[in-house]
Amino acid sequence: MEQTFTIPYKTLLRSELTPEDRRLEELAVEAAQKAYAPYSHFHVGAAVLLANGEIITGSNQENAAYPSGTCAERTALFWAGAQCPDVPVEKLLIVAFNASGRVPFISPCGGCRQVIMEAATRFHPFPILLAGDEKTVVLEDCRYLLPFGFDGSSL
Ligand code: THU
Repeated sequence: MEQTFTIPYKTLLRSELTPEDRRLEELAVEAAQKAYAPYSHFHVGAAVLLANGEIITGSNQENAAYPSGTCAERTALFWAGAQCPDVPVEKLLIVAFNASGRVPFISPCGGCRQVIMEAATRFHPFPILLAGDEKTVVLEDCRYLLPFGFDGSSL
């Protein structure tokens, strides 16, 4: 039997973003400016909206021992988990800049997808916005990023 995953997503123009999403984007851009990325020169910012209205941001933090660095998404989600352990994540928005400026959009790396999945199973699934300067890709359910993923139900 052959089975297929379908990943629904939509693309929004900047003018179609809600004020809340624009605010998240603004804060993610500010966060990207605080990235510590002397090795890749790739600056990523993430903004996490929590159920209490708080917005937690994070940026990538690199290290001379490369694997010891971490991505913007994980910085923000782990900070949220550490500071507000009982507050569900409602939304995650990501932006990135390379040496030439803002990139159209980036999608989280595999390790971050696993961490995003954990936040979704810990509380409930949430939308993820991959925000470029002109267009934003929206996945209404972050779990679409990790089909056939590993979760605690297998333990
Ligand atoms: N990076 C992120 O922060 N998030 C992603 O989704 C992809 C990659 C960071 C890790 C590293 O510091 C730099 O971007 C280049 O890979």
